[in-house]
Amino acid sequence: MAEITNTIKHVASPLARQTLQDKELTRPVAGVRPIRLLPWLQVIKIGGRIMDRGAEAILPLVDELRKLLPEHRLLILTGAGIRARHVMSVGLDLGLPVGSLSPLAASEAGQNGHILASLLAPEGVSYVEHETISGQLAIHLQAARAVVGSAFPPYHHHEFPNSRLPMHRADTGAFLLADALGAAGLTIVEDVDGVYSDDPKGANGAQAKFLPETKATDLLATSKPLPCDRAMLEVMATARHLERVQVVNGLVPGRITAALRGEHVGTLIHTGVSKA
Ligand SMILES: Nc1ncnc2c1ncn2[C@@H]1O[C@H](COP(=O)(O)OP(=O)(O)OP(=O)(O)O)[C@@H](O)[C@H]1O
Ligand SMILES: [Mg+2]
Repeated sequence: MAEITNTIKHVASPLARQTLQDKELTRPVAGVRPIRLLPWLQVIKIGGRIMDRGAEAILPLVDELRKLLPEHRLLILTGAGIRARHVMSVGLDLGLPVGSLSPLAASEAGQNGHILASLLAPEGVSYVEHETISGQLAIHLQAARAVVGSAFPPYHHHEFPNSRLPMHRADTGAFLLADALGAAGLTIVEDVDGVYSDDPKGANGAQAKFLPETKATDLLATSKPLPCDRAMLEVMATARHLERVQVVNGLVPGRITAALRGEHVGTLIHTGVSKA
């Protein structure tokens, strides 16, 4: 009996005994590139600002997404827009901590997802929760060509207290998922042509230059406003699969289709991943 107990206790494993903080120990085991779980998947993040524009912007977008279904299998993730900004300003005024604001904002990303999924329902597309994306995405994508989910990552009350506003928002969530799944690509859909040297709609908009191609590290170094989460740019430094993402204008019909076909129609943001 005692022998059996001993065998059970001493499971041979390279990570069994020492601390996981020891890089010399973990590198040989954890340093290899992970497999791609869904290498055929295209992830599309739809900005909350597109959704805020209502039917005028949403209906042509839904039309384009519908036409993409025979060609691609899609994970469509939605961001939060004006309602999240309003609820966060009310919450800030009341002194709510960032961990309370994060789920409030996330709930709008979910609402936007439900709207898109309803419009794509005739095509068999449904809204799925985070748990389903983590555990059952493959089977859902066998049943339908696309599913819709919230792009907001579920940090909720675990949100980092770096700032009063949640730092992990929809772009970060979409990138984390796309990279973790080893997706074929991530397209970020904005209401502008891509990333500029400054806000093209801001006070210095006339001087803002369009950036057809840039690096995450270069964008992180700028103090100018950006149309994507800084946390996403930070995560890009240690990404495992995605070499780049493309930011495109979802108000111009055809741009998302072209981006998914590998055409350069917006801003390419290069991550820290190299082909090797
Ligand atoms: N450097 C920049 N380049 C391009 N747009 C910028 C830049 N800085 C600010 N913007 C502004 O960012 C706006 C988009 O805002 P934001 O990225 O918050 O929207 P969204 O992506 O739709 O929202 P969410 O991330 O909540 O889904 C653009 O309409 C543009 O005016
Ligand atoms: Mg954006």
